Amino acid sequence: MTTMPIDPCPTLPAPDPAAAAHGARLLDHIRADIVAAGGAITFARFMELALYAPGLGYYRAGARKFGSGGDFVTAPELSPLFSRCLARQCQEILAALGGGQIVELGAGTGVMAADILLELRALDALPERYAILDLSGELRQRQRQTLTERAPELLERVVWLDTLPEPGWRGVVLGNEVLDALPVERFRITAHGPRRLMVTWTGAGLDWIEGAEDPAVTAAVARIEADLGWRLPDGYVSEYAPQLDPWLRAIAEPLAAGALLFVDYGYPRRDYYHPERTAGTLLCHYRHRAHDDPLILPGLQDITASVDFTAVADAALAAGLEVAGYTTQNHFLFGCGLMELLAEVDAADLVRYLDLTRQVKLLTLPGEMGDRFQVIALTRHLGIPLRGFAFRDGRGRL
Ligand SMILES: C[S@@+](CC[C@H](N)C(=O)[O-])C[C@H]1O[C@@H](n2cnc3c(N)ncnc32)[C@H](O)[C@@H]1O
Repeated sequence: MTTMPIDPCPTLPAPDPAAAAHGARLLDHIRADIVAAGGAITFARFMELALYAPGLGYYRAGARKFGSGGDFVTAPELSPLFSRCLARQCQEILAALGGGQIVELGAGTGVMAADILLELRALDALPERYAILDLSGELRQRQRQTLTERAPELLERVVWLDTLPEPGWRGVVLGNEVLDALPVERFRITAHGPRRLMVTWTGAGLDWIEGAEDPAVTAAVARIEADLGWRLPDGYVSEYAPQLDPWLRAIAEPLAAGALLFVDYGYPRRDYYHPERTAGTLLCHYRHRAHDDPLILPGLQDITASVDFTAVADAALAAGLEVAGYTTQNHFLFGCGLMELLAEVDAADLVRYLDLTRQVKLLTLPGEMGDRFQVIALTRHLGIPLRGFAFRDGRGRL
């Protein structure tokens, strides 16, 4: 996602009355959940409700979210070049498999699906089908509309799934900015050990409250510290994604052969839990402002956490997958032929050329999306080197 740089005290525009009423309905729902739980809920539960409560959560209701009129812009929204590069990586994998399907998780507006299908058609390498599986059924209409506008003749290849494909399928799983939307637990290191930071209702609003000792949190933090080889200091606040292992296992299980490609912002574990990153990685997006308070604007803002890519690699190995590649977004796109795609554009068409050059910069510059975003490839029975990772192999950093 890209938005304005984080401002410790951003001026957030006030929601309009309809949005405010919507937020108030979700807040009532969350408050009822807190009361039913005895006064506090885990942050993972809060995040799940804020983003996915049926009919109310951020991704389950009508707010615009994506693009210039929404809250944030993602790489496929920013430039078709991103999706065209991913398509080229898919082409290589599907060719090695002798065909197969693509399953996209969390397809947003559907723009990546459309651009990937258009590129694969141009390469004469269309998948058997392109399946979309999104936690938000509400986005289906939007995805269908995008595909109808951009690639109407390819719509018949697209299916929307409610569950993962049947066991034995072959092909590619794609997820751009899906891992950062998985609910996370928040913890703080105290003199008595790690404690969950939970969400409570004060009577006037939502607030943080420290939970009692919990063996699940103690074990999760002990695993992180053992892996790091150092203790996190007192007062240190961070997150971990408790659902990552079962989620990835469920996705990997039915895949007979192929690859999972995830693109997201995050770090290897040593950087994620860097001693100086003392306040964690939670980031919220509202009308192109980024800030770090997830307890405000329920249902009206996106809530994300950076991805611990070492945890993703560990979960993949536990699910019987191989970690076939890990690199930054810019190196991945270069490996997939980004500059060749740019070179195909007629430089005499100055307006178009300059626009694409601007897009390339945003996608690849360090400090922009180029190195904040990482790509990881997890494979099963796919014995080929992947072109996206040919420029730099960062697996040693995981
Ligand atoms: C930040 S948006 C990214 C959308 C799109 N991939 C893009 O890059 O523009 C996150 C998307 O992931 C979906 N999502 C979140 N958790 C999911 C899950 N467990 N399975 C499938 N989709 C999920 C959300 O509904 C939403 O469409």
